[in-house]
Amino acid sequence: MLNKPKCFSSRPLPSAAREILDKRFDVEYWDMPGHPRGEFLRRMGDKEALLCMVTDKVNDELLAAAPKLRFVGTVSVGYDNIDLPACTKRRIVATNTPGVLDETTADLAWALLMAVSRRIVEGDKWVRSGTWPGWDSDQLLGGDVWGKTLGVIGFGRIGRAVARRSLGFKMRVIYNNRNRLAPELEGESNAQFVDMDTLLRESDFISIHVPMSAETRHLISKDSFEKMKPSAYLINTARGAVIDEAALVEALKSERIAGAAIDVYENEPKVNPGLFPLKNVVITPHIGSASIDTRTKMALLAAENAVAYFDGRRPPNALNADQLGL
Ligand code: DGY
Repeated sequence: MLNKPKCFSSRPLPSAAREILDKRFDVEYWDMPGHPRGEFLRRMGDKEALLCMVTDKVNDELLAAAPKLRFVGTVSVGYDNIDLPACTKRRIVATNTPGVLDETTADLAWALLMAVSRRIVEGDKWVRSGTWPGWDSDQLLGGDVWGKTLGVIGFGRIGRAVARRSLGFKMRVIYNNRNRLAPELEGESNAQFVDMDTLLRESDFISIHVPMSAETRHLISKDSFEKMKPSAYLINTARGAVIDEAALVEALKSERIAGAAIDVYENEPKVNPGLFPLKNVVITPHIGSASIDTRTKMALLAAENAVAYFDGRRPPNALNADQLGL
C-alpha cells in the first residue's frame, strides 16, 4: 500500500501484533532505552496513530505535539493515562483493551492474596539467607484463606474473575459496586451485594477492582482502615491512587490491619519508601496482566482497533465512539 499512515508505537510490541500493524501502517517502534518524554513528543510530530501504554500520558501537551493524530490505542484496560475529553475535542478516537486480561489479572490478585497471608516472600528470603534453622511450630504463622470472607470492591469483569476463584477455597464472597449485578453474575461466585461499610467491616480479604477516576481516588482512606478487621488483608491490582498510600503505610506500621499486597502505586514509578521496611506487605511492579499470552492478546487487540479505524470501521473498543458519532 502506498502512503501508509504513520504510526508510533511507544513499545516494541510482540511480533504477532507487529505483523498486523506493519501491513496497514508505516510504524516507528520505540527503539531507545528509557522513555524521554521530549523525544516521544518529537516523534509524534508526523504521526496519525499512536499505540501507547498505561505509563504514557496522552494529555494536551502530547496532543499539541501531534497535530496529525487521529487515533490513540492504549495497550491496557485502564485508560486513566488518556485525557479523553481532550482527544474528543480534537476528534481523535481512543481505544483500550478490555476483556483479554481479566483472568490473568485475577490470577495475580490471588497470587498476592496467598503470598501475603501465608508469608511466602518472608519465607523465601529466610531460606535464601541461609539462616533458617529448620522447621519449628511457631515459624511464619499466617492467616488462613479457606473459609474466610472475600470482599471485592468493583465487581466488573476482573472483580468477578477474582470472586470465581474463591469457590475452591469455600469462601463467602461479598461485593460493593456502583450498581448491584444481575443474579446470574452474582451466582457465579454466590456473591452478596453489600454497602461499603459492611464490606470493610466483614471482609478478611479485600481486593480492589475499580477503575481510576475522581470518585475512586483515595476510596480507601485512613477512615476505611479504622473500619477493617485487625486480621484483614488488602490486595490492590487496580490503580495505586485508589488507596491513600500514606494511610496504608500507617495502617501496616501500626498493625491496624494484618497485611497488604500491592501491585500498583499512587505515584508510579515512585513507591512510598515507608513500605520498604515492612514485613506485612508484598509489593510487585505492576505486573497484573504480565503473562506472555495476555500481553500478546492486548497488543493484538490494540492493533486490530487501529486497523479497524483506518479501514473506516468503528473500532471495537472505542472509548469515545458515541461522542465522535462513530
Ligand atoms: C491495565 O491494563 O490497565 C494494566 O494496568 C496494565 O497492563
